[in-house]
Amino acid sequence: MNGRHRRPLLAVGAVLTLLLSACAPDSVAGWEPRQWSVSGSIVRSPAPTDPGHASTLDMRLQNDDVDIDARWASLPGAPAFNTAVEAVVRAAVQEQVVVSGRPYRPTAHPVGAGLGERGCAPGSTTAPAAEVLGERTGTVVVCEIVLARGAMFGERIRVLTARSGGAVDDTSTTIYTDAATGTVATDTQLFTDPAALWPAYIDTLRRDAGSVSPLPVGPPTDAQLAVFEDALAHAELAAGEIVIPVPAELTARELDGLAAWRERSLEHPPRVALREPQTSGALSPVGEELLAAEGVFTGQPSAGAGFEHVPCDLVPCMALTLDDGPSSLTPQFLDVLRDEHSAATFYMLGQNAQSHPDTVRRVAAEGHEIGNHTWDHSYLTGLTDAQIGSELGQTAVLLRELSGQAVSTFRPPGGYVNDHVVGIAGQPAVLWSVDTRDWEHPSDDDLARYAIETPDVSTIMLMHDIQAGSARVFAEVVAGLRDRGFSLVTVEALFGGTVPGGIVRHGPLV
Ligand code: NI
Repeated sequence: MNGRHRRPLLAVGAVLTLLLSACAPDSVAGWEPRQWSVSGSIVRSPAPTDPGHASTLDMRLQNDDVDIDARWASLPGAPAFNTAVEAVVRAAVQEQVVVSGRPYRPTAHPVGAGLGERGCAPGSTTAPAAEVLGERTGTVVVCEIVLARGAMFGERIRVLTARSGGAVDDTSTTIYTDAATGTVATDTQLFTDPAALWPAYIDTLRRDAGSVSPLPVGPPTDAQLAVFEDALAHAELAAGEIVIPVPAELTARELDGLAAWRERSLEHPPRVALREPQTSGALSPVGEELLAAEGVFTGQPSAGAGFEHVPCDLVPCMALTLDDGPSSLTPQFLDVLRDEHSAATFYMLGQNAQSHPDTVRRVAAEGHEIGNHTWDHSYLTGLTDAQIGSELGQTAVLLRELSGQAVSTFRPPGGYVNDHVVGIAGQPAVLWSVDTRDWEHPSDDDLARYAIETPDVSTIMLMHDIQAGSARVFAEVVAGLRDRGFSLVTVEALFGGTVPGGIVRHGPLV
């Protein structure tokens, strides 16, 4: 047939249709248009949705003895969540202890190790394993913040282990918390009835592939459900939507005849977004809470590194101590510590605390530890018992009043101390294992190099926040130490919370 004949025929057809419809009955009693089930929608954007923003304490450990490189993030004010996240890292470390046959001890690295780069990296839990592992052997732990909305926060942790013969173990866990209540849940606890989501999920996929089938989606086989549950473990829940990835292993009877769907999937890996009413009945209470999470993250912002728990059995820790202040230079030191998420211990003189009360309050408010360095820097071993009591007692009263802290250790000026002095003080005397001798005014370069290169795990290092040279190099020193892998904590934290009695010079792991 060619075009010359087609047009008259179409015209005749139209006239016939008009005539016929004019004689047709008004309607068929009881007939209604087909009711399509409410379908989900397909999300093809490759980037994950904006997870929101929360201030985290970024962590890192790299240990060559057992061959592990781990990055994770702690959430300020969420101890149960942080314990759960740490447990994943601890399990990965323990696995490497078994594999390597070596004990685990936190270790620091040489200058320039690049370990200042910490915490989670976008895309690292979804990138191909080979990309994340790179040239590295052993175990690599990476993380990604997947949710920070309302009171809800979620972090996915991925553990990759290179096995001999090129095989890779690759497991991910997402841990969620309600920052308002402290409740913690993992991705396996969000869904009470995963199979309830299956029909809408498969229906959305088959329609996207062009199917107009009106048949209901049948239940999944056990194997299909297992694949689907794995996809649910990587689902994003927020703002009323569950966005579920489509794994390569997914099969369903309803997708069998649709050759196109697999090709489309490979070209643009789709995710399926489901909302009410498709999601109803499938979620646990915490799952419903995640689904409802909206708006900016309302969890506690970081109140200062000194308030945060740092696991010094897992990451290499050391303590910076700053003596003889506070002074007009002290705020510069505090700014650096705040910017580098680090804590320090300030051994203060009573007479200087009296003239800089606001600085004492700021030191305490930012989570740093305050210790007693006597009223006027007297050498205690040359004093009478009454004088020792007065030097330390007067100072302790003022520091406690200004800081609200217990002020539970002292540092004897010049390091002059004996058991008799410790007995009168009634608290531990904290000395040091690395002395920067910043009071001898070395060149800035020499001071910075010494302060960065010398410390080891559990070092207590002495500097002075009255020395202009130390103020000038402090940012470089803190960054340099973090780059070597150190977490900078208070003296108390170095000992896990309680400093042992007597005279101490370094932390417990040396
Ligand atoms: Ni001193």
